[in-house]
Amino acid sequence: MNEVIILDHPLIQHKLTMIRDKNTQVKEFRELVDELSNLMAYEVTREIELKEIEIETPIRKAKSKVVSGKNIAIIAILRAGLGMVDGILKLIPPAKVGHIGIYRNPETLKPVEYYAKVPSDIKNRKIIIVDPMLATGGTAVACVDYLKKNGSMDIKFMCLIAAPEGINYLQKYHPDIKIYTAAVDERLNSHGYIVPGLGDAGDRLFGTK
Ligand code: URA
Repeated sequence: MNEVIILDHPLIQHKLTMIRDKNTQVKEFRELVDELSNLMAYEVTREIELKEIEIETPIRKAKSKVVSGKNIAIIAILRAGLGMVDGILKLIPPAKVGHIGIYRNPETLKPVEYYAKVPSDIKNRKIIIVDPMLATGGTAVACVDYLKKNGSMDIKFMCLIAAPEGINYLQKYHPDIKIYTAAVDERLNSHGYIVPGLGDAGDRLFGTK
């Protein structure tokens, strides 16, 4: 069963409210998504391993901890996932970044992957998939399918808002994936938008509407 981790830190909740507000304009929206991703990355990376090294402080030699492997990959689901990448990279600059584009075929309603470029050593990396909205879960499942087919074993999913429908769908096909979100909303509407949500994350990030 998927573990769903709701990041309820007051700063995260405050910024989430600001991006939900329809009066928040594109520049501020983009900055807030960047800040939210940065704050959330702190929690998503809580389990990365440390190793002890020896350093010298101005006072004496000391053993101290550093992150042991720099083997993280951020996988952005196009296009809205792009808005979450820089916020994470500010915390983990050596992380590699992959991009996956998936759309839903209007006739078959099946997800179709139209673009995928991921780090060549993807199977050895700890993966954080980013997409602001976990709505139906179709894209998330297709993205995890792709990564697992390419050998990935350690995958986390990070979004800003999740719908119960998306959580259930991801759970059905990939119960091993931990979901990190700032909120679980009520439901999807008949157009597949999360209610109350924040509208179309891609349009709000890039000003396309
Ligand atoms: N994608 C979005 O951008 N918003 C939603 O509410 C659902 C999917």
